[in-house]
Formats: sequence, structure tokens, C-alpha cells
Amino acid sequence: MLTEGLVVVHECMGDKEQGLRRLVLKGPIAQTAKAGQFVAVQVQDSSISSFDPLLRRPISLAEISPDQDEITLHYRIAGRGTEILARARCGERLSIMGPLGHGFSLPEERELWLIAGGIGVFPLYALAQSALSKGLTVRLFWGGENQQFLESAGLSRWQALGIPLYLSTLDGSLGQKGFVTEQVQARLFQLFGQTKQEAPLGGEKISVATCGPARMMQFVTKLCMEFQAPVEVSLEERMGCAVGACLGCVCTLIDEAGTLIHKKVCQDGPVFRGEEVVWDVSC
Ligand SMILES: Cc1cc2nc3c(=O)[nH]c(=O)nc-3n(C[C@H](O)[C@H](O)[C@H](O)COP(=O)(O)OP(=O)(O)OC[C@H]3O[C@@H](n4cnc5c(N)ncnc54)[C@H](O)[C@@H]3O)c2cc1C
Ligand code: FES
Repeated sequence: MLTEGLVVVHECMGDKEQGLRRLVLKGPIAQTAKAGQFVAVQVQDSSISSFDPLLRRPISLAEISPDQDEITLHYRIAGRGTEILARARCGERLSIMGPLGHGFSLPEERELWLIAGGIGVFPLYALAQSALSKGLTVRLFWGGENQQFLESAGLSRWQALGIPLYLSTLDGSLGQKGFVTEQVQARLFQLFGQTKQEAPLGGEKISVATCGPARMMQFVTKLCMEFQAPVEVSLEERMGCAVGACLGCVCTLIDEAGTLIHKKVCQDGPVFRGEEVVWDVSC
């Protein structure tokens, strides 16, 4: 599980001010990785030989290319660790742990709806590729701050997939103005009706995977439960060890008997069934 990735591409994504990076690593991890899993990247500053920062940083797999032995990570520079990572050069070898955690599952026959908020779109790209390769119909609902963000965060790559895109921006500069959940709700009502009697019929036709802010995923889960559509959510918790040893990433879930239980996002997740997440505790 502890391995190395050779940096073959490391570039800025779109507008520099968005602080987004695309990192392509070559290594054996691409043979076993699945959409929704992540890697824990060592981000130590090699110019001052030290173990600081000690903790690896978790980053999702944005693309998995077993034929090229490559994985792609898309990340936002958020603090010290990702700032150090941003200095990695082509030809350098990074220490990575992974693939870690449990990823998304693919529906058998249903349409797959991907619902993303902000950079939550990153792990959904690998899922879209995997679903399309199995012949599934895929739609993306994606909300972000503005046009500049969506374009920087990979909009053209999604357009190249040729799937229906439903875009929302907070300022209305691209797509519909407002939250992406409004578009999801409108589409559900349009397809399956608004009344409680009609609603359950729709759920048999779609399956949902979502990643983004907790409030968005909570709302998506509520909608999916109303329509009886299965939904998987990818949770984000601050992580320590990333391998189940430190209990730093524990979240609260509810089991089928209604008992509250605790699970580790790094090992049991990051993907869970939406209905098992206790949102008000874990977020
Ligand atoms: C399973 C998983 C997958 C992830 N995938 C991606 C990805 O594909 N692309 C990406 O850009 N980021 C991803 N993240 C978030 C990423 O791990 C953090 O942004 C990163 O660890 C920040 O490290 P830092 O040292 O740069 O910043 P720090 O100095 O550690 O933190 C900077 C800011 O980011 C916040 N932060 C740090 N870690 C997290 C976290 N896990 N969740 C929410 N906020 C956090 C801190 O509270 C602080 O406000 C993922 C996180 C998890 C748990
Ligand atoms: S991060 Fe240590 S148990 Fe999950």
C-alpha cells in the first residue's frame, strides 16, 4: 500500500488565482485503484531535511488510467501541506499510500446522476469514466462560485465526455444562478412528479453519487430518500494516519436497527450510503 508515484505532469489548472493543480503520477497504484478511493501523499519539504509536516495529505483519485499506469490528482492549495506539494517537479518521486478507503459503487442498469459542489467534482470524474466505459447513462449536476471557477476546475474535460451537464453558479455567470440542488430538485420533479404518490416511482430509474459541502450532500440525500433513489456520499474529515489507526476521522452513522455507530472515514469510507450518515453530528 505504501508506494511511489513518479511525477509526469504537474500543472496549474485554469486561472492561477483559483490555486488548483493537476498532478499526474505514474506507478503501480493505477492497477488496483477505484473511483472514490484516495491516496495519502507525503508532503515533506525536501529542502530542509525534516519530518515536517508529519501527516500525509488525503487527495482523491480524479482519474485512473491503468493502461498508462497513471493516476491523476486534482487539488486546491489550501494550506502548508498542499503548498509544499505544489512545488513537486516532473521527474520527482512522491511517497504515496493507497489506494485507500472504499470507493463508489456502479449501478447495474440505472442512470447515474453525479451531484457535485465546488471541488467535490474531482473524484466524480473517475466515476463518470468508469460508468461510461460500462455503457451507463451519466448526468452531471455541478455548482460552483462562478464561471472562472468551473472553467478552472475542469469544465472542458466534462464537456468532452459528451454527457448532459447541469451547471449552477452563485453569481449566475454560467448556468443557472443559485445552488445546484435547485436544478437537481427541478429535474426530479419534472421527471417523476411532485406528489408523494408519484415520487417513489422515480427512484427505480436513477442512482446518485455526490461529493461536496456537507449541507449540499445532506439535502441531496433527503431528496433521494423522498424519491427512493439510492445515494452514495463521499465524506471529508480531517485525517491523521489515513489507515484506521488514530481514530482522527471518526464519523457517526445510524445502522438499520436505528443504533448510532461510529466508523472511520479513511477506512470504512470515504463513501457511505447517504441514509446511514448522521449529518448533524458528523458535519
Ligand atoms: C478523503 C479525502 C479526499 C480529499 N480529496 C481532495 C481532492 O481531491 N482535492 C483537494 O483539493 N482536496 C481534497 N481533500 C482535502 C485535502 O486533504 C485538504 O485540503 C488538505 O489535506 C489540506 O492540507 P494543507 O496542509 O494544505 O492545509 P491545512 O493547513 O492542513 O488546512 C488548510 C485549511 O483546509 C482545511 N482542511 C484541511 N484538511 C481538510 C479536510 N480533510 N477536509 C476539510 N477541510 C480541511 C483546514 O481546516 C484549514 O482551514 C480531501 C480530503 C479527504 C479527507
Ligand atoms: S485518519 Fe486515522 S483513523 Fe482515520
